[in-house]
Amino acid sequence: MPLIPGVIKMIKTDEVRIKIAIQKSGRLTEHSIELLTRCGLTYSRGRDQLICYGENMPVDILLVRDDDIPGLVQENICDLGIVGGNIIEELRLELIKKGTKRLFNVLERLNYGHCRLSFGIPENVEYIGAKTLKGKKIATTYPLIVEDYLKKQNVNATVVEFSGAVEIAPSLGKADLICDLVSSGATMKAHGLFEADTILESTATLIQSPEALSKTKKDWIKLLLQRIRGVLQVKESKYIMLHAPREALQEIRRLLPGSEAPTIIPLEGFKDKVAVHAVCRENVFWETLEELKEAGASSMLVLPVEKMLA
Ligand code: PRP
Ligand code: ZN
Repeated sequence: MPLIPGVIKMIKTDEVRIKIAIQKSGRLTEHSIELLTRCGLTYSRGRDQLICYGENMPVDILLVRDDDIPGLVQENICDLGIVGGNIIEELRLELIKKGTKRLFNVLERLNYGHCRLSFGIPENVEYIGAKTLKGKKIATTYPLIVEDYLKKQNVNATVVEFSGAVEIAPSLGKADLICDLVSSGATMKAHGLFEADTILESTATLIQSPEALSKTKKDWIKLLLQRIRGVLQVKESKYIMLHAPREALQEIRRLLPGSEAPTIIPLEGFKDKVAVHAVCRENVFWETLEELKEAGASSMLVLPVEKMLA
């Protein structure tokens, strides 16, 4: 664990403040900070750069190594954590294996940090589904997820755990193939591997400690979660305004992506034309606007939504 005992003690003794662990530096860091900021949290950074103290909410951010996050939450050193689904799943399998009864709770899958756990096969090897893995040596940072997959596929193979740089294992002769995270696919390609079957899709995920929390903490987490959901929804949402012939209303409503009851407003001086204002829960693309125009809409305006509370 990277946290010095003094820090742990200080965090633990403060019963009222919510501690949320996020990745110190990596693919989730910037997005996680942005998410919390968009939830209205302002903070100041501690001198050690490990903790950000919330100024307007009793919420402090701990910057830690991503592998440590589920453990910190499971052990109730932090109340919440944001970490990749891949790391969560590996720890979940480990805890189950150990017979742990109370596991951390998954509160929300977030819409960033998308990646997948896939097999990477040397380019000169033919891949014909899971049976290709039979008798092979597979290098991975996620041994339990891979073993679980092999078991479900009824395939016998040897899994060797690597803590990093998995992609070089085949060229070093340490494994026949790998199972690793893929985002753009550039890393596997650069190491002469091609991506075969995906065994897990991962996104950044918000988890909560399995311990019972105080009423104050519960209330703050409820509020934070509500805001997080609002932020996630707003990202895709658009406010659309247009003019339309009354007779085309039915078709226009059908074309508006993910909108609930739009507001219909009469237009001064026009008997058969109205203004339509609607919140679309999905992005509005050019194609949609073109279809709306085809259906008779004009003067279309698409605006971003800043905040939303259902
Ligand atoms: C993952 C994975 C590869 C890389 C793949 O590592 O282990 O190294 O990302 O990304 P690409 O498909 O876009 O090339 P990560 O950045 O999560 O760091 P880690 O290996 O240190 O955990
Ligand atoms: Zn890596």
